[in-house]
This record gives sequence, structure tokens and C-alpha cells, in this order.
Amino acid sequence: MSKAEQIVKDLVRHTYGTWRRQELWKSPLLIKDAEGVYIYDDGGKRYIDFSSQLMCSNLGHKNKAIIEAIVKQAERLPYVAPGFTSEASVAAVEALRSVLPEGLQKFFFSTSGTEANEAALKIVRQYKAPSYKILSRYRSYHGATPGSLTLTGDPRRILAERARCTIDGVRFAPDAYCYRCPFNLTYPGCGIQCARYVDYMIKEEGNVAGIIVEPIVGTNGRIVPSPEYFPMLREICDENDVLLIADEVMSGWFRTGKAFAIEHWNVTPDILTTAKGCTAAYTPAGVTVTTREIADFFEQEPFDHGHTYAYHPLVLSAIPAAVGEYKRLMKTGLPQRVSRHLKQRLHELGDRHQSIGDVRGMGHFWALELVRDRKTKEPFNVKMDKFSRKTMMTSKVARDAFDQGVYILSWYDTLIVAPPLIITQDEVDEAIDIIDKSLLIADREAVSTDIPVSKTSEFVSI
Ligand SMILES: Cc1ncc(COP(=O)(O)O)c(C=O)c1O
Repeated sequence: MSKAEQIVKDLVRHTYGTWRRQELWKSPLLIKDAEGVYIYDDGGKRYIDFSSQLMCSNLGHKNKAIIEAIVKQAERLPYVAPGFTSEASVAAVEALRSVLPEGLQKFFFSTSGTEANEAALKIVRQYKAPSYKILSRYRSYHGATPGSLTLTGDPRRILAERARCTIDGVRFAPDAYCYRCPFNLTYPGCGIQCARYVDYMIKEEGNVAGIIVEPIVGTNGRIVPSPEYFPMLREICDENDVLLIADEVMSGWFRTGKAFAIEHWNVTPDILTTAKGCTAAYTPAGVTVTTREIADFFEQEPFDHGHTYAYHPLVLSAIPAAVGEYKRLMKTGLPQRVSRHLKQRLHELGDRHQSIGDVRGMGHFWALELVRDRKTKEPFNVKMDKFSRKTMMTSKVARDAFDQGVYILSWYDTLIVAPPLIITQDEVDEAIDIIDKSLLIADREAVSTDIPVSKTSEFVSI
């Protein structure tokens, strides 16, 4: 047994592998190094990071400016209790305000996306009491802790419910999922029923305090709603006195071409949560930001929330550095150029592979939805397969691509194309050429039809 194999063997014995049966946590790859858009294993093999790890390493690996900022902070003041404040907090707020919509003004800092959403949940319920119900959508993930997981529509919530690790007062609204419209309607003749139904739900449910949405759905599909969707949702929230919470943990940070995905619809939420890309994953930060109106409410009300590591200076030190790097990168025009190329290459894959049902996304945030039959849209796998013993078709394709040197994450129905924003056209080509070959695995089990691939984000020309 090699030294690396021994290290991994010991490690899996003493650590829990996340979101899986532990018998499947046997041989995680030991990653030794990472630079730019590449990660390297113990043997020096190179993999192109086509999902930015967990859609968070948006600026690639070993960014010097961010590392320097963290080192400086570690030397100056690594930690101070949240009852004090630090220059790191001041700088993080200033940097965030320079990219966030103006209406969002008061911040709470934590150390993950799920904590950012737990804070939002508490804020909404305190602010809107006695209303307490929160609407979410089935195609969603909001985090691993009980509140956030209850807001989650994906299979992880279903398992948590069985373990009695969820909270009450959450209801699920229809997804803005044009490829598989829950009302079986077609845009634009649908009248945006997925938004209208939220109005019906709020009125019929009663006691609704807020609705949480991923503006472009992340893990559960890179689903881009129609141009009318968010303006309608904003209006419905205002008319019914319900708060709109945008979870930009994954869709934020220029991944879709704008700082935050909701900006594509010119809508400002009442609360925005983010994490991941806010430090480009160099430190673990969570951000919850509210309007001034909500902030004012807490002048006379206790803000019933906090953590030992809230406002952690070392964590926050990466935020201004990352914001500076995003601005610099966007000014070069590279992400804008490469995202056009990426889109074209993904559409070509859709045209070539029978097993791709829908190609959708924006910027550096795309889904290839795999289907057995394009005509009937019969999927290879469904939601509840996720935690079954079945090997999913998306996993088979991703596994093959990984063996050929491309790290691409998969969900039960889609491949997740989300490379770092620093990726070049040549690096995109390198990854796509490999994925092109790996998709033959799915093609072999797909029904041959003359139905063209669907490109649902194409008719959504925002
Ligand atoms: C949209 C969304 N919200 C919340 C979270 C939870 O973030 P974290 O894993 O940092 O707790 C995630 C994580 O993937 C996410 O994609």
C-alpha cells in the first residue's frame, strides 16, 4: 500500500463522508495541490476544475491577492469576539456595499451558506410575527442545518424529515422549470402560472411571512426563470406583505455574468443571503443582508442571533480582496468572452448527443440535463434515486470525465458546468472535448429520435 493510500485509509476510518452511505466513503482522492483552474492529486495527475469545487472557487486556486489579505489579517488580528468590531468588518461591509443592490444595507456575518439562511429565517419570523410560514420551491437547496434543510426541496430534506431534523411552517411552491413545467404549460402562453400560483398559495395558506428563492437554481438544475417571473413575484410579495429572500449562495458572485443573479430581472429582494463566492472559498464566510426597513425593526427588538465566529476577522479579510479581484477580472472582459464560447460549445454538445434533453444556464453556470428519451423526456434517474444504491447515469458520465482529467459535479439528473471565472477559451475546449467523449456512455442507452435538444434558457433572453 502506498503512503497516500495509507493516509486515505486512516482518514476514512475516522471521518464521516458528507451526504453518503459511509460504505461509499472508501477512497476519496488525496488532492495535494491546486493552481488556477487545475487541481492535482498525490501522483501529480492534473484535473481541470469544471465545477469550481462546490461552485465556490470562482476565482480559481492560489489567488495571490486573496492569500496575501488573509495572511496580513492573521498577523494583525486573527480573531476578536463579535461584541467588538474590527477593521476587517468595516472593510467587508464597504466592499459588499460596492456590489450589492443599494436597498440592501445591514449585514450579519457567519461562516456558511446554511447559517446565512438560518439567520434570514429568524429575521423573517421575528419581523413578520405572528406570520411564520415560509414558501420555498421543490427544486432548491438552502443548507444542511434544520431550518435551511426544511426550506430545501431536494432529497436531502426528505431524509432529514425521516430523522425528525426539520422545523415546521414551510410550504413548497411550483418551480419555474420550463423544461418540465409543473403545470404542463409552455412559455409564453403559460401566463407565468408558476408565479401566479404563489399568489394563490399565500392567500389560501395564511400566515405567510416570506418566500425564499434561488434566483437561478443551483444544484437542483440551473433553472433560469422567464423574464416576467421575478417582477411578478416581487409584486405578489408586495401586495401580500410577504418578504422576498434571494438565496445567492451559489448564483451570486458574477457566476451568471452579474454580481448577483437577481439583478438580471432588476428586482431587489428584502433579504439576500450569500456565502461561497464572497471569498471565492478562500475562507468560510456567510452573509445575510437586509433592507433598512427590516434593520430598523430590530432597534427596539432583540436581534436574537449570533455565533462565536460571527464577524470573524480572518474569515472577513478575504471578502474585500475577493471583491477587488472580481472587479479586476470583469474589467478584463475575459469572463464575458469565455461565457459566450462556453455557451456555444455546450449547445454543440446538445446538438450532438441524444442523451442531452435540455441545455440551460447563463454565464459560467450551466446544466446538461440527461434523458433516456428526448421525445418523452423520460429521465435516466429521478430524485429518490439520489440516495438509493443505483449508480446514476450522470455519475457514470462524470466518473469517466474525471478519469480523463475533468472534475465535473453531477446531480441525479444534470451535469453541473460551473468553471472558475478565470477559465480561458482553450481550457474550456480541453474540458468540453473530454466531456464530449464521456457523454457517449449515456448516448448508448438513449433512444434515438429526431427531436432537437431543448435550450430553455434561449427563449429567456434577458
Ligand atoms: C443555494 C444554496 N444555499 C445554501 C447553501 C448552503 O451553503 P453551505 O454549504 O456553505 O452551508 C448552498 C450550498 O451548496 C447553496 O447552493
